[in-house]
Amino acid sequence: MAIERPDNPRVLIPEEQVQNRVRELAKEIEDVYHGTDLTMVCVLKGAFVFFSDLIRQIDMPISCEFLGVSSYGNKMISSGEVKITLDLAIPVEGKHLLLVEDIVDSGQTLQFLLQTLQARNPASIRVCTLLHKPHAQKDPLDVDFFGFQVGGEFVVGYGTDYAERYRGLSYIGAVERPL
Ligand code: IMP
Ligand code: MG
Repeated sequence: MAIERPDNPRVLIPEEQVQNRVRELAKEIEDVYHGTDLTMVCVLKGAFVFFSDLIRQIDMPISCEFLGVSSYGNKMISSGEVKITLDLAIPVEGKHLLLVEDIVDSGQTLQFLLQTLQARNPASIRVCTLLHKPHAQKDPLDVDFFGFQVGGEFVVGYGTDYAERYRGLSYIGAVERPL
């Protein structure tokens, strides 16, 4: 149980709802990849909590790989410049990749990741994101699996942060943007 504290962010999606949706997503992924050798790529840092819950609900053999990117620095608005902070440890040529993201907002991070990974000739790439902010996207991007749609609020918790805080919350919360 999360400890209720007055300084904790407002609850947007409670823990139980998050866990139920993660189980559903795992089934959707199983249906699509049944019988396929699947490599799941955790996009660090924000997706690590979602990723670890998701892989434990998927009832088929998978490989796990990790890729670090950063675009926000310590701010609430994307710098627009995406950097790889930790590259994949293996070549992905010929592999079926499922990128696991925390949030697709402007879509810039995803666009960068898709371009970077396509160049390495995987057999396929799909995207699973926990949260999707469709209004913020400059171009509609293909997200194959998503947990929840959210609006304009800045979300934290369940792996996502504001200036590295709140990643350990078991629910998805919202923090106010400073004026
Ligand atoms: P995009 O490049 O604008 O789509 O932003 C993608 C990344 O920015 C996400 O993977 C998150 O790590 C981070 N991000 C975007 N919106 C939020 C938010 O509301 N809270 C925390 N991180 C966010
Ligand atoms: Mg992210």
